Amino acid sequence: MQGLTRHLVFLSIFAAVTLKLKAQYLLPINKHQPTKQFYTTLNIGSSPKSPINLVLDLETNLSWLNCRKIKSLSTYRRVGCNTSLCNSLPNGHCQENTCYNSQPNPLNRIPLIARLGQDRASFTTTDGNKTSVRNFTFLCAGQKDLRGFSPPAAGVLGLSPGALSFPKQVTSAFNVIPKFALCLPSSSTGPGHLYVGTGPYFNDRLSNIPMTFTPFTITESGKYLISVKAIYVDGFGLSLDRELLVPGAKLSTVVPYTTLQSDVYTALAKSFTLKAEAMGLYKVSTVAPFKDCFDVGATERERKGPNVPVIEIGLPGRIREVRWSFHGANTVVRVLETVVCLAFIDGGKRPNDLMVIGTHQLQDYLVELDFSRTVLAFSDSLLLHNTSCSS
Ligand SMILES: *[C@@H]1O[C@H](CO)[C@@H](O)[C@H](O)[C@H]1NC(C)=O
Ligand SMILES: *[C@@H]1O[C@H](CO)[C@@H](O)[C@H](O)[C@H]1NC(C)=O
Ligand SMILES: *[C@@H]1O[C@H](CO)[C@@H](O)[C@H](O)[C@H]1NC(C)=O
Ligand SMILES: *[C@@H]1O[C@H](CO)[C@@H](O)[C@H](O)[C@H]1NC(C)=O
Ligand SMILES: *[C@@H]1O[C@H](CO)[C@@H](O)[C@H](O)[C@H]1NC(C)=O
Repeated sequence: MQGLTRHLVFLSIFAAVTLKLKAQYLLPINKHQPTKQFYTTLNIGSSPKSPINLVLDLETNLSWLNCRKIKSLSTYRRVGCNTSLCNSLPNGHCQENTCYNSQPNPLNRIPLIARLGQDRASFTTTDGNKTSVRNFTFLCAGQKDLRGFSPPAAGVLGLSPGALSFPKQVTSAFNVIPKFALCLPSSSTGPGHLYVGTGPYFNDRLSNIPMTFTPFTITESGKYLISVKAIYVDGFGLSLDRELLVPGAKLSTVVPYTTLQSDVYTALAKSFTLKAEAMGLYKVSTVAPFKDCFDVGATERERKGPNVPVIEIGLPGRIREVRWSFHGANTVVRVLETVVCLAFIDGGKRPNDLMVIGTHQLQDYLVELDFSRTVLAFSDSLLLHNTSCSS
């Protein structure tokens, strides 16, 4: 027993010295409204000001960018073929002593092949200091690989669970707890935030926003999944074939609206419509890509969005089921002055991923992925607390 205690004391001292407390890195997240793409900005290269905008993607292992956008390449290094870095890549290949790797474009899943390189990546800490990772590893792609991207974007920031994703490279370079959090903004009035490292995330004004915890898993192909137990509309569970929820839900920062398997979508839309009609909101003709739209009249605009039924997903908690609740701002989208549509997409009978939680649903929540415990933490909607990701 004493041995065990000593062991624990040793471990906690060890943890305290090796993990910097309160180390925290902060990057802005901007939303490009027309394309609904979310991108961050960091400096890459030896010039202290060489900002590069990169679209955030939770499935990209290795960040990639158009290297012509880097102002000064004096600290840029190609990664050679016979290096442990090149050999560690699952789909690397070599040509003329240059290491190449392939990553799918997150917008169309078409793979691109690009050279592996390293350069300095600079960003700020939460207390406003400048800091940098000297050997940030990424791929140099070309402008042609950026088809479909919002005009400011010059590439993709990889946020996958892989060892070379941006959060993993930063937390291992600074030797801090491997975790990161996203606060996606809903508007372009101000940037949201990408946090890397340990909390606290918030200033005092926000520090008492409750967080809820659920485990996540990492698939072999490198996706983040949470396990969905049930879906509720105004507190009532949808009657669903449980099998349809079993594969779980994938999180995405590039899919704009949560996509559901057809039968799940139909059950959700039916229940939502019944509850909405009971509130006096009636169905009107649909506006693509949505399937269920409602006349909300000239209702007063509330912070949490139009007053519509609440949608919740039931997830495993530490002891019992926990629920992630979505209110009007996240469940519907305003398409006309008086018309809103259910902001979920019918993904067909056999979609690749049965459920994908998209950005319209993630906006104005703080969502943290902690690799050290494989726990996902999500906040209440910040809108319920009179704030947002962009304030
Ligand atoms: C690769 O590395 C090995 C061991 O360091 C060496 O023997 C070999 O010649 C190298 N090959 C090339 C093409 O550089
Ligand atoms: C930021 O800089 C100040 C002053 O140099 C220093 O005391 C503080 O520890 C730095 N913060 C971080 C997170 O490095
Ligand atoms: C960065 O990489 C270079 C060349 O591979 C190496 O000499 C240097 O020690 C590395 N620096 C850090 C901080 O890892
Ligand atoms: C990304 O990493 C995962 C393992 O984490 C691997 O299975 C997958 O093949 C990788 N994808 C690419 C395109 O590198
Ligand atoms: C938000 O603001 C409204 C009015 O401005 C106020 O009634 C409400 O109590 C506030 N809610 C919180 C959680 O601060």
